[in-house]
Amino acid sequence: MSSLDTFATEKLSQLKRRSLLRTLVETTRTDDIWAVRNGRRLLSFSCNDYLNFSHHPAIKAAARAAVEHYGVGAGASRLVTGNHPLFAELESKLARLKGAEAACVFGSGYLANTGIIPTLTGSSDLVLIDELAHSCMMAGGKLSGGRMLTFRHNDLAHLEELLVRHRADHRHALIATDGVFSMDGDLAPLHGLAALAKTHDAWLLSDDAHGIGVVGGGRGSSFADGAKADVPLQMGTLSKAIGGYGGYLCASQPVIDLIKSRSRTFVYSTGLPPASAAAAIAALDLIESDPDYAALPVAKARLFTRRLNLPGAVSPIVPIVIGDAKAALEASRALEDQGFLVVAIRPPTVPPGTARLRVAFTARHPAAEVERLADAIQPYIPSP
Ligand SMILES: Cc1ncc(COP(=O)(O)O)c(C=O)c1O
Repeated sequence: MSSLDTFATEKLSQLKRRSLLRTLVETTRTDDIWAVRNGRRLLSFSCNDYLNFSHHPAIKAAARAAVEHYGVGAGASRLVTGNHPLFAELESKLARLKGAEAACVFGSGYLANTGIIPTLTGSSDLVLIDELAHSCMMAGGKLSGGRMLTFRHNDLAHLEELLVRHRADHRHALIATDGVFSMDGDLAPLHGLAALAKTHDAWLLSDDAHGIGVVGGGRGSSFADGAKADVPLQMGTLSKAIGGYGGYLCASQPVIDLIKSRSRTFVYSTGLPPASAAAAIAALDLIESDPDYAALPVAKARLFTRRLNLPGAVSPIVPIVIGDAKAALEASRALEDQGFLVVAIRPPTVPPGTARLRVAFTARHPAAEVERLADAIQPYIPSP
């Protein structure tokens, strides 16, 4: 065997021994809440399609029309010939929803964070990231070449300590956090983070992948407390509640102009396909016109937490932390036997010893099924 194959084989068997091997399972999502796996139809609580927009008739029709009109691909980077007319409309709708001056659409949320952070910070700068922030923020921080430090999850006192200790040694400082944490479902204290950013002349970046469309009346985590938090860099994705694919940054006009000119993942990557842009435009129109619908996923999550006497959900995501990876896989399999798809999330996606069932609620989950799932999950709730 070649040294390359030996390396891969040994790595794979190590992962398998620790119940950390990941494999792809073919999954067909034929409508908004059901998935077919291994020939079985399962009610899915593992999709980020919080508003069920991936199968919405008006959104599908918008995507189909864009394919007919503009073709299936952008054909080039947006700075070459890929800037089809749907981008301007999408960016102005995003900026309006987020209360920002301008927006930039990227190929995905991952590309957005790995492009934004290294464009704004470099080797003389400080990047402070919440320890539970998404992997692409960490990757962006590393790519910046600056000094990257993590602060304890949602711990303003720890962040302040780091700013007091390190800020003066660096030219610029960036504070980066998820707005809604993807594996825990809690919200970042954006007002407190904004106040610290102001005091220490740092720039605040929030990743609203799991907030847009579902919290703050659909406007996202910066609006979760009613008053808008002062977040100059509001990043997010079009691949979760928006139902399709793509990423974005909403910010001031000069920041967006700089990103469009210098961000490597924008400049050197093909523009989003027209159908994805058209789908996102249609989704944003629906969110703006019906904030009550946007509130449904969190309402379903709250029904679940109430039934289980857990702290009330503040987003559509509720974690049931089991701890051991093998036990989390077994719990997921047992739920599958009862007709539910609730995928186990294991390290390194979550910290060691915190493998979990991550339950994601959508607008169209029937209340009776939410309660049936709660009863099925009850045996896996850790005792206090
Ligand atoms: C918090 C967060 N940020 C960014 C991303 C990446 O977004 P995308 O799937 O559009 O690349 C994800 C997706 O998993 C996420 O959960």
